[in-house]
Amino acid sequence: MSTVAIYPGTFDPLTNGHVDIIARGARLFDRIIVAVLVNAEKSPLFTMTERLEIARAVFKGLPNVEVDTFDGLLVDYVERRGAQVIVRGLRAVSDFEFEFQMALMNRRLNDKIETVFMMPAEQYSYISSRLIKEVFSLGGRVHGLVPDMVEQRLRDKVAPAAQTRS
Ligand code: PNS
Repeated sequence: MSTVAIYPGTFDPLTNGHVDIIARGARLFDRIIVAVLVNAEKSPLFTMTERLEIARAVFKGLPNVEVDTFDGLLVDYVERRGAQVIVRGLRAVSDFEFEFQMALMNRRLNDKIETVFMMPAEQYSYISSRLIKEVFSLGGRVHGLVPDMVEQRLRDKVAPAAQTRS
């Protein structure tokens, strides 16, 4: 039996921390499905189409990585896709409380699904999509923390006045 994992998230935008976890997951599981949550935030910076486009372009060289969207309960999506595992990244202790709650709630909802936590490479252990957006919008440098395509799209979206130091 092949093991299929789901890596869910909002990915607004995809960071190199996400990319690192997905690449590790692709080595560990037969297939890993990057599942982008529909309607997570009322006003995301990147549209769903853009988030899918970016993730598909970044992982086009990894045949066992698929990019999809999901809505509703994560455990229902996991079951629909015939997956057995939810992958989540753990950066620091501060992530633990929320991740612990989610993992146990998901287990209560469906105890056949296991949550597996993976740690990103240490150089990505402090980055988040929220920080990337904030730093970039204030003119800070995010090079090396997000895929080049994300950096380019950020440049296209953020007002030129805020880009003097990027
Ligand atoms: O990238 P994020 O924002 O940390 O991802 C959070 C996500 C998408 C994994 C979580 O919000 C989720 O699973 N949402 C789907 C709705 C659901 O199943 N909620 C109950 C989770 S215990």
